[in-house]
Amino acid sequence: MLRIGMLTSGGDCQALNAAMRGVVKGICTKRDDVEIYGFEDGYKGLIYGKYHMLTAKDFSGILTKGGTILGTSRQPFKKMRIPDKDGLDKVESMKHTYHKLSLNCLVVLGGNGTHKTANLLREEGLNVITLPKTIDNDLWGTDMTFGFQSAVDIATDTIDKIHTTATSHSRVFIVEIMGHKVGHVTLHAGIAGGADVILLPEIPYDIDVIAGVIEKRATQGKRFTIIAVAEGAISKEDAKLKKKQYKEKLANRNSPSIAYELAQQIQKKTDQEVRITIPGHTQRGGSPCAYDRVFATRVGAAAAELIEKEEYGYMIASKNGKITKVPLQEVAGKLKMVDPEAGIIQEARTIGISFGDK
Ligand code: F6P
Repeated sequence: MLRIGMLTSGGDCQALNAAMRGVVKGICTKRDDVEIYGFEDGYKGLIYGKYHMLTAKDFSGILTKGGTILGTSRQPFKKMRIPDKDGLDKVESMKHTYHKLSLNCLVVLGGNGTHKTANLLREEGLNVITLPKTIDNDLWGTDMTFGFQSAVDIATDTIDKIHTTATSHSRVFIVEIMGHKVGHVTLHAGIAGGADVILLPEIPYDIDVIAGVIEKRATQGKRFTIIAVAEGAISKEDAKLKKKQYKEKLANRNSPSIAYELAQQIQKKTDQEVRITIPGHTQRGGSPCAYDRVFATRVGAAAAELIEKEEYGYMIASKNGKITKVPLQEVAGKLKMVDPEAGIIQEARTIGISFGDK
């Protein structure tokens, strides 16, 4: 008998269900002596022993379904070693659930924080295989994560729609895009949507440069400017601050987010009317795009193959178009950021997109 535990952890995204379907189909087409335990709401289910026994049928018809049939939650890694409010040792509790159910392995779908805990469980002796999930595409060790392309499509669609209204009204529009501390979604959606300015955490901006771009466009008779800003974008001035100082500054910021701060500054520096659009969590919602369906299915199938071979302790990854595996200890705790020197940045600059830095 093969007993598999499965959980989805951290922020949800499109194609979580598609990936789980890939794992289960990959295993169940070859054998039927399989028990699948789906843990509720991520690591929480493993900690508190909340799970459902599932069959291959439960994973049918979910390829196109957004969200996660298991539910998810954020269980911060830094609190994993801290007992809960009733004094429960979370790590011991997860191990207990795993052993009580005699699991052969745990399949974990998640992003950065999730991978730190997955690696901790591996260090504690559990058999773990992970799948690379996040709209942010910031997982180290893989070129791609599922959810990313779908989020890029949604953010691009937002920019497309803003284009028509921005033109009619001769306005500056700021579209704030998710991505946590990195700018992959903003970079791709910004280019795909034809943004004039793209602001990323990896390339600190100068507000005077941005104002200059807007004014230059106005003198050229261009009726609008579209700025795609990553939620984690940072000014050159702030980039010089120590991490702690910057955190304090953010905590005391009198605007709800970077888009509002930029809008105030741009309004002061230029004569233009500025508006803000924030697609927010819509970027994680709805059906996965075709790319994500294919990618999630491939990584799911690859996980099924590793389980069959009893090769544990890996994240399934994509490298140069090939599906491969990376040891969890190499992934955990590292962030994949946009390389400011990458070809895509240079090419964007070549066609006149400003990154607000020069
Ligand atoms: O990591 C995915 C992500 O959507 C980030 O882009 C964003 O910063 C964060 O999650 C939002 O988290 P929450 O859903 O907890 O508000």
